[in-house]
Amino acid sequence: MTQMQQSTADWQALDSAHFLHPFTDHKQMHAKGARIIEKADGVYLWDSDGNKILDAMAGLWCVNVGYGRQELVDAARQQMEALPYYNTFFQTATPPVIELSQLLSEVTPANLNHAFFTNSGSEANDTVVRMARHYWASLGQPDKQVIISRKNAYHGSTMAGASLGGMSTMHAQGGLPIPGITHIGEPYWYQDGGADSPEGYGLKMAQELEQKINELGEHRVAAFIAEPIQGAGGVVIPPDTYWPEISDICRRYQILLVADEVICGFGRTGKWFGSDYYNLQPDLMPIAKGLSSGYLPIAAVMVADHVSRVLIEEGGEFFHGMTYSGHPAACAVACANVRILRDEKIIDHVDTVTGPYLQKKWKSLADHPLVGESRGLGFLGALELVRDKTTRTRYDPVGETGTRCRDACLRLGLVMRAVGDTMIISPPLIMSEAEIDEMIAKVVQGLDETYSGITN
Ligand SMILES: Cc1ncc(COP(=O)(O)O)c(C=O)c1O
Repeated sequence: MTQMQQSTADWQALDSAHFLHPFTDHKQMHAKGARIIEKADGVYLWDSDGNKILDAMAGLWCVNVGYGRQELVDAARQQMEALPYYNTFFQTATPPVIELSQLLSEVTPANLNHAFFTNSGSEANDTVVRMARHYWASLGQPDKQVIISRKNAYHGSTMAGASLGGMSTMHAQGGLPIPGITHIGEPYWYQDGGADSPEGYGLKMAQELEQKINELGEHRVAAFIAEPIQGAGGVVIPPDTYWPEISDICRRYQILLVADEVICGFGRTGKWFGSDYYNLQPDLMPIAKGLSSGYLPIAAVMVADHVSRVLIEEGGEFFHGMTYSGHPAACAVACANVRILRDEKIIDHVDTVTGPYLQKKWKSLADHPLVGESRGLGFLGALELVRDKTTRTRYDPVGETGTRCRDACLRLGLVMRAVGDTMIISPPLIMSEAEIDEMIAKVVQGLDETYSGITN
């Protein structure tokens, strides 16, 4: 049976019968049937009923160069014809994995010149935990084991990834976090800042790191991990005072700074990496998503020179890796993708033209009666839906209004995500000004529909 012969109802019946989805309440979904996406081009998706949908989330924050780039298809095909698979274990490499490692050392911050490949951002963060501990043990400090992360962070869904993450709903399933991972607060000024100024609040939240290090003892802390901008937590943009203080604390206490660039990387902020935007010098830097624009699964941990030197000179064998670490086809596609971003100056264009254009329009949404705050940076944006703008009070129960808004937008042909009552966007970086206008018009319509549904 070919794909063309299936109706939406056929797909949904088969889906319900056989497919267990990630992050899905199946009972709820089976009652109405899954959304079936069949094809895509540029910034648009088409579902199995032929509806055209503007994808303001770039898939899951990943399709940075947009859908339908033939060069990426060609790169995969050519590599699969030459060498579809060979492993990189046991002192072996393939040309694409070497080429990609070199290319990444060029585009990432200056002191990051080695790459360790995985297949997902979650695995990259598992690698961070193992690598950070192995690094300190190699330096004769085996007690430096604890990784400090933040509440409401998202670092993936494996045991270590979900433990690093600060999502209480995830921790509640499966006895997480695993030992040796602990959390401090997040710099979510709009939600938690109260009467503090953003600057004061940013400093206060950064200083929680110092308090935690002192509580645990510096000799026990291996690393601090954070997203430059918290993505899945609701596009939480830290106050300007936050990152300089965090960087300073990590340096003073000699703990590794891990910048999880899985979302912020490859142009999302208008710079190549969130670390470039905030002038960070991470010791380890997990990357994924925009690395291949989602065309094939691939991720990596970029490693700073002083860390790679220890791993290489003193670490012996690192007993870690996956069958598909540095998969040749995924590496070839990632190379082609990074070259598209670089050669077509897509990130510069976001930085100087479309990013400012998008942000100007996005910020104006704060005038809508439902929107308490509109914030954003580059090609990231968030809207806080609130009942009372002055007190920043949300609707009760939290999440219902966001879900309504998300569903209204979808009916209007727009994918926008709801994190509780925070609406977020992360569009493909190739979105044009006309497409931005179209997106904003649909967001306004979605907000209007949601608002009239509440007051009527
Ligand atoms: C910041 C961050 N880190 C890690 C991950 C996990 O990546 P993956 O879903 O590829 O495992 C994500 C996924 O959204 C993420 O946003």
